[in-house]
Amino acid sequence: MKFFIDTADINEIKEAQAMGVLDGVTTNPSLVAKTGRKFREVLEEIVQIVNGPISAEVVSTDTQGMMKEARDYAAIHDNIIIKIPLILEGLKALKICVDEGIKTNVTLCFQASQALVVGKIGATYVSPFVGRLDDISVNGMELIHQIKTIYDNYGIGTQVLVASIRHPLHLVEAAMMGADVATLPIKVIQQLIKHPLTDIGLERFLKDWEQVPR
Ligand code: E4P
Repeated sequence: MKFFIDTADINEIKEAQAMGVLDGVTTNPSLVAKTGRKFREVLEEIVQIVNGPISAEVVSTDTQGMMKEARDYAAIHDNIIIKIPLILEGLKALKICVDEGIKTNVTLCFQASQALVVGKIGATYVSPFVGRLDDISVNGMELIHQIKTIYDNYGIGTQVLVASIRHPLHLVEAAMMGADVATLPIKVIQQLIKHPLTDIGLERFLKDWEQVPR
């Protein structure tokens, strides 16, 4: 399973990179806004740090505008993945990207029928948002199960990139379902290895070690 970090913050990216678990990066307009920096500058920096897929989201809502942004970002580096919203104009842009060999991540997926269409067109990744579904009392992980089943049934090659992950349990469930990628906020990456018994166990070992003659 690939781990991407869901951020546009360079320090967070470097932190995850240092942990040795980072396969790629996803950004979105809200995350970029938090940095207070120009997106292109941020992207150019990220591609120097991470040697893996880096999603850059278009903000146009018409196909032509999306394609202008897509070609512009794709030209920065081979690792740039164009993130396209799951709307009709976005799907038309997706088709053009597929034909032009531009890699894509179709975002804001909230139901299996959307993912099926995206898979048929040939996106590189589809991003179902599990946390935002949970927020409205819909089981987000059930969507991952549905998409995995449908993609497996028809041999669809689009990779399932589980997004809007809020806690380690989301990741564990996604991994058990065989999701290809999880994109995680830095907080969740850090939580993955935390267990109170690990901390208590270490504390006890170190205390007992004080009794060992030196
Ligand atoms: C995915 O690529 C999105 O950037 C992200 O996972 C959204 O997560 P949120 O619901 O925590 O904003």
